[in-house]
Amino acid sequence: MLKISAHKESFTSIKADVAIVFVINKNTKHKWIDQKFLHDLAYQHKSPVLHQQAKTLYIPLGSLEVDSMREAGATAVKTLKSYPFKSAKIGFYTLPKSSDTSIMAAFTLGALLGDYSFDTFLSKKQPSSLREILISLESYDTDSAGATKERVQDFSKQLDEIKIITKSVNITRDLVNTPPQIATPKYLANYAQDLIKGTNLSCKILKKQELKKEKMGAYLAVAKASSKSPRLIHLSYKPKNPQKKVVLVGKGLTYDSGGLSLKPSDYMTTMKADKSGGCAVLGIMLAAEKLGLPLEIHGIIGACENMIGGNAYKPDDVLISREGKSIEIGNTDAEGRLVLADCLSYAQDLDPDVLIDFATLTGACVVGLGEYTSGVMGYNQKLQLDFTQSALDSGELVAILPFNRHIKKLIESKIADVSNVSSSRYGGAISAGMFLGEFIRESYKDKWLHIDIAGPAFVAKEWDINPYGASGAGVRMGVRFLQDISKISKARKQ
Ligand code: BES
Ligand code: ZN
Ligand code: ZN
Repeated sequence: MLKISAHKESFTSIKADVAIVFVINKNTKHKWIDQKFLHDLAYQHKSPVLHQQAKTLYIPLGSLEVDSMREAGATAVKTLKSYPFKSAKIGFYTLPKSSDTSIMAAFTLGALLGDYSFDTFLSKKQPSSLREILISLESYDTDSAGATKERVQDFSKQLDEIKIITKSVNITRDLVNTPPQIATPKYLANYAQDLIKGTNLSCKILKKQELKKEKMGAYLAVAKASSKSPRLIHLSYKPKNPQKKVVLVGKGLTYDSGGLSLKPSDYMTTMKADKSGGCAVLGIMLAAEKLGLPLEIHGIIGACENMIGGNAYKPDDVLISREGKSIEIGNTDAEGRLVLADCLSYAQDLDPDVLIDFATLTGACVVGLGEYTSGVMGYNQKLQLDFTQSALDSGELVAILPFNRHIKKLIESKIADVSNVSSSRYGGAISAGMFLGEFIRESYKDKWLHIDIAGPAFVAKEWDINPYGASGAGVRMGVRFLQDISKISKARKQ
């Protein structure tokens, strides 16, 4: 893994194989920039360029904001992959004197997430030579040496946090990227049990028989046709004197073929990523434990496979869910909401103060919001706004999709309490969210959030800090939200 460290020494005095220098807003006037070199090149400020002789990589940047810095971190490591440099250094010459360290943190996060690639199955791996990035936090102008020392201490703390979060995101990516013949529900359960060894997390696995005892009729129906039996993975983190109890639920479809309402081939590929919500929950739990958050946190992952066969559940079936509500099946490809309905029921028995589910639930969410943005839904507007703020601060994009009473009517059934599909072709992300809402008891309605990560979970063409494949969507926003609510309840107690 790439090593990143902070230093109080000046940028010029740090020794490294290559220097990373930003050219901000096409402004080349700085002693670290070879103006003549860029001028002779007729540099267009579109992509990074390496000055071989000066051993400097110039990265064009529109402005010095956290979002562009995060992306620049990823760009830097990706560009350096094609060169033999083992170490790189970076300094932030345009920082205002009293600046906080947020843009350096953003750069670091981008570098650690941009460095990821899934090469398990490649015979010829192309590992990057880059081992280390050294960050200079030298004194700026009249800044005192004491202030620099303080900045190094501050940033080192942030660095520890960033390492924990990026490691969790990359573990989530690895798991989601693992092909479906390997990453079965049983594999996920074993993986979770292995991963928590030596941590303060505990793990309980519910197999088919236990799911039957729990009367999870909707979840079991989805899992029925698969030769790979389902697993409900229940992770718990119980620190002393927790401020709140949070339950996270994740859709863990290790494969979604669509079932008898079979997906066309072009839509079936990438459906190994239908376990992204569940894997994100695992990633969030790992990070929360390592960060030592003062919250009791449970992670419920509903893992199973949606397949076809003589034993498959069918359109027209009526299922009885764990909450006792009957569900008419209109389409077996709307399976995630069935698994989640039963998992959310189980989750409410844990009596959470906050209940959040993460799921690659609908193609409609991708159509509505695009590939880069997740949908936030629920009944509690304040909770949705708070979550949105945390998500955006974490660098993940989200937008609120509002529930309304008209869409609620679209999931009515004539022969069951609710239908698993909407009677309209429009508003599919919201109708799926409102379907889940049908399984949230009155007393938990204001505590619940549904996050549809179908857009950003899988990356077909790299963007921002995301290489091809699984993005680990949900982890950063989830961890940030948990950190933020810990701070809020701590402040209230004081
Ligand atoms: N897993 C899919 C949703 C999905 C689509 C995730 C694209 C990521 C990318 C989900 O189970 C599904 O198939 N939903 C259907 C629902 C429909 C049948 C009502 C959909 O969105 O088409
Ligand atoms: Zn589906
Ligand atoms: Zn699905």
